[in-house]
Amino acid sequence: MAVIGIVVAILVTLVAVLIPWLPDPASKQMDRIEFVYWFATVISIAIFALVMAVIIYSVMSFRSPPEDESDGPPIHGNSGLEIAWTIVPAILVIAIGVLSAVVLSQNSGAGTNPLTIKVFAQQFSWRFEYPDDNGIRSYELVMPVDRGITFEMQSADVIHSFWIPAMGQKQDLVPGIKTSIVITPTRTGTFTLICTELCGLGHATMRAPVRVLSQPDFAAWVKEQQAGGSKGDPGAAVFTAAGCGGCHAFTPAGTNGAIGPNLDNVAASAKKAGEDTAAYVKESIVDPGKVIAAGYASGVMPANFGDSLSATEIGALVTYLAAAK
Ligand code: CUA
Repeated sequence: MAVIGIVVAILVTLVAVLIPWLPDPASKQMDRIEFVYWFATVISIAIFALVMAVIIYSVMSFRSPPEDESDGPPIHGNSGLEIAWTIVPAILVIAIGVLSAVVLSQNSGAGTNPLTIKVFAQQFSWRFEYPDDNGIRSYELVMPVDRGITFEMQSADVIHSFWIPAMGQKQDLVPGIKTSIVITPTRTGTFTLICTELCGLGHATMRAPVRVLSQPDFAAWVKEQQAGGSKGDPGAAVFTAAGCGGCHAFTPAGTNGAIGPNLDNVAASAKKAGEDTAAYVKESIVDPGKVIAAGYASGVMPANFGDSLSATEIGALVTYLAAAK
C-alpha cells in the first residue's frame, strides 16, 4: 500500500510542478498568494495519494472471487480511525483558513509610503489618474517597482474586474461604490491588465498595457507626462487609449473591430445624416444614441465618453477620424 501511495504522490507532484500553472510572480502579493497555493497543493497531494493508495490496495486485495455471493464479515467500524480522519482534516482546513486570512490581511497593506493611482473603467477601456503627481492621466498603467500602490477604482457603467495575472490581485469595479486594492510590483517589465468580468460585447478586448519601471525611470515618466509628453498624432493616441479599435475597424489605426460600424466611412455617413463630418463624428462620440448606423444595436457604444475624455482629447479624436478618407 505504501508503494502505491508513493507512486501516486510522485505522479501528482510531477503534474503540479512540471506544468507552469501560474505566471511568474511580479508582485509581493503574488508571492504570498503562491505560498498559500503551494501550501494547499502539498496537503492535497498528500491526502490524494493516501486515499488512492487505500482504494487501489483494497480493490486489488479484497476483491471477491467470481460467483462468491456470501456476505462479508459483520464489522462495527474503527473508532480510532474515525476520530483520526475527522481531527486531521479539521486541523489542515483550519491551517489553510488561518494562513489565507493572514495573507489576505497582509496583501491589503500598502506599506509606509504608498502611491495612489485612480482607475476608471468603462465599456470597454481603462483610464488611470495619478493624484500624487498633479493628476496626470494615462491609458497605460505605469508603476514604479518596489513601492506599494493603492488602486482606487470606479466604474462608469457596469461591473468590470481589474486583474494583472502576474500580480495576483483581483478586484471588481462596481458602479456606485469605490473599491480598492494594493499591488507592490517586485520586478520591472511589461504586463497586461485584463478585465475579468463579462461586461458586454467588447469584454474580450478590454485590456490595457502595464509597465513597471525602476523608480528613477518612473520619475522621468511622470515628468514627461506633466510636460504634455506624448508624441505622434494626439488623435491616434486617444483612439488607441480609449479602446475605440476594440469595437471599430479603422484603416489608419490598423484596427478591425466589428462590434460597431466601420469608421472608414464616417464622411459618407455624415453626408447621409445631412451633417458636417466633424460635427457628426463629435456627436457620435458624445451622444452615440442619436444616430444609430443601420445594422447596429443602440446602447452598445458607451454614452459617457463626453465625460471620460477631456475636451482636448475629443477634439483630437474628431480631427483624426474626420480627416480619414
Ligand atoms: Cu470590462 Cu469585461
